[in-house]
Amino acid sequence: MKDVFIHSSAIVDDGATIGSETRVWHWVHVCGSATIGRGCSLGQNVFVGNKVKIGNNVKIQNNVSVYEGVELENDVFCGPSMVFTNVYNPRSAIERKDQYRKTLVQQGATLGANCTIVCGVSIGRYAFVGAGAVVNKDVPDYALMVGVPARHIGWISEFGEQLNLPLKGDAETTCPHSGNTYELKNNTVTRKD
Ligand SMILES: CC(C)(COP(=O)(O)OP(=O)(O)OC[C@H]1O[C@@H](n2cnc3c(N)ncnc32)[C@H](O)[C@@H]1OP(=O)(O)O)[C@@H](O)C(=O)NCCC(=O)NCCS
Repeated sequence: MKDVFIHSSAIVDDGATIGSETRVWHWVHVCGSATIGRGCSLGQNVFVGNKVKIGNNVKIQNNVSVYEGVELENDVFCGPSMVFTNVYNPRSAIERKDQYRKTLVQQGATLGANCTIVCGVSIGRYAFVGAGAVVNKDVPDYALMVGVPARHIGWISEFGEQLNLPLKGDAETTCPHSGNTYELKNNTVTRKD
């Protein structure tokens, strides 16, 4: 692994792939069949399970476990102590290792501090999950979700600013910071330029 920083307290099992310029901080454990892209940061006490795929430029803050069944695309941000899951209905006495439900976090999405993602959902591109939310349904692209269970309260730009768009209907607006144009049509937000 070239140009990868791995702190001396971290454990990276044989077979793991880690891209260049990725930083692996104190007490991280990466399992052997995990694949991690370029330019990522794995904060203190992060765990990355077997078969996990992590894209490029993904930031994982302290105390996050990325379990088998989770995939993180490029530019995803995982806030401190947020929680992934992979068994929907765990019981200590019942083996469910062949029943992992997949969680897909798409490009550019942010998962706020201390939120929980119930397995089996897909988080859309550039969606934003507020701190402490519990997500148990698929999240559309650019959606801002807060609360328990997480509710869709608005739309948010790639820059991370709320967009002046209704939840439903047809509308267009610009991101107050970047000036990019976003369109809401058929309940879907897309960036137009
Ligand atoms: C979502 C967030 C970005 C705020 O966005 P915003 O566009 O400024 O939204 P507002 O603060 O205007 O909030 C809109 C409404 O949602 C509520 N809200 C905002 N964040 C919330 C949250 N995390 N949980 C519950 N409700 C929340 C607000 O109270 C407000 O409700 P109201 O209209 O009834 O008053 C911010 O609250 C947040 O959760 N950031 C994540 C921080 C984080 O985890 N960082 C990790 C790296 S350290």
